[in-house]
Amino acid sequence: MADLYIIAGVPGVGKTTIGSLAARLMHTKFIDIPEFVKSERLYVEYDRSSRSYIVDLRALSAALSSAIRDEAKPPIVATHIAFKPRNCKVLRVLVLRKNPLSLLATLRSRGYPLRKVAANVAAELMDEQYVEFIRKFGRSRVIQLDVTQLKRHKAARKAARLLSKGGRGDAVDWVYLLEKNNKLGRLLSFLSKYC
Ligand SMILES: Nc1ncnc2c1ncn2[C@@H]1O[C@H](COP(=O)(O)OP(=O)(O)OP(=O)(O)O)[C@@H](O)[C@H]1O
Ligand SMILES: [Mg+2]
Repeated sequence: MADLYIIAGVPGVGKTTIGSLAARLMHTKFIDIPEFVKSERLYVEYDRSSRSYIVDLRALSAALSSAIRDEAKPPIVATHIAFKPRNCKVLRVLVLRKNPLSLLATLRSRGYPLRKVAANVAAELMDEQYVEFIRKFGRSRVIQLDVTQLKRHKAARKAARLLSKGGRGDAVDWVYLLEKNNKLGRLLSFLSKYC
C-alpha cells in the first residue's frame, strides 16, 4: 500500500507555502490538491459565487492514488478536504492553525468575498479542520501546528519534524485566547454579519 502525509488547514493558513518547503526538507514530493485538481481536470464545475472548483472526489481519489504509487518516498499532500486516496495509507496529518484575526487579514488581502472570508475564519475559530481530520483518520494520527508567529522556514522545519517523527504538536483554543485578549466580541460581530 502506498503511504502519504497530509498537510491540512483552512484556506490561507499556509499549506502551500509551508508544505512545499517541508517536502524539500524531507526530500520528497509535494502535491498541492488545488493545483492537482486543476492540472488533471478533476472538477465537476467552477462555482463563481464561491470562486472555487467543485471537486470530483471519486476521480481525485483515483488519480491521486496513482500519483502517490509512482513515488519512492511518501509525498506530502496539501488539502482542506478530509479524504483518503484509494488504496493508500495516511501516515500522519498535520493541521496548520492560524489565529483567526491573522487569518482574517490574510483572506481579506486576497480579495475574497467577505462571506467566504467569514466562513473560513469561523471554521478556524471552531477547529473545524482538526475535528474533520480526526473523524476521518483517528486522533492518534492528527497533530496541530500553530503557525501564527512562525516565519515560513521555521514553520517548515517544525512541520517536517512532526510529520516524519510525530510528537505532541500544539494545543489550540482560539476562543479562550481571543476572549482573554478582549477580541472575541468584535470578531463574533464580524462573523454574524457575514455568516
Ligand atoms: N509562516 C508564514 N509567515 C508569513 N506569511 C505566510 C506564512 N505562511 C504562509 N504565508 C502567506 O500566507 C498566505 C497564505 O498562504 P498559502 O497560500 O500557503 O495558504 P494555503 O493554506 O495554501 O491556502 P489555500 O488553501 O487557499 O491554498 C500567502 O500569502 C503566504 O505567502
Ligand atoms: Mg494552497
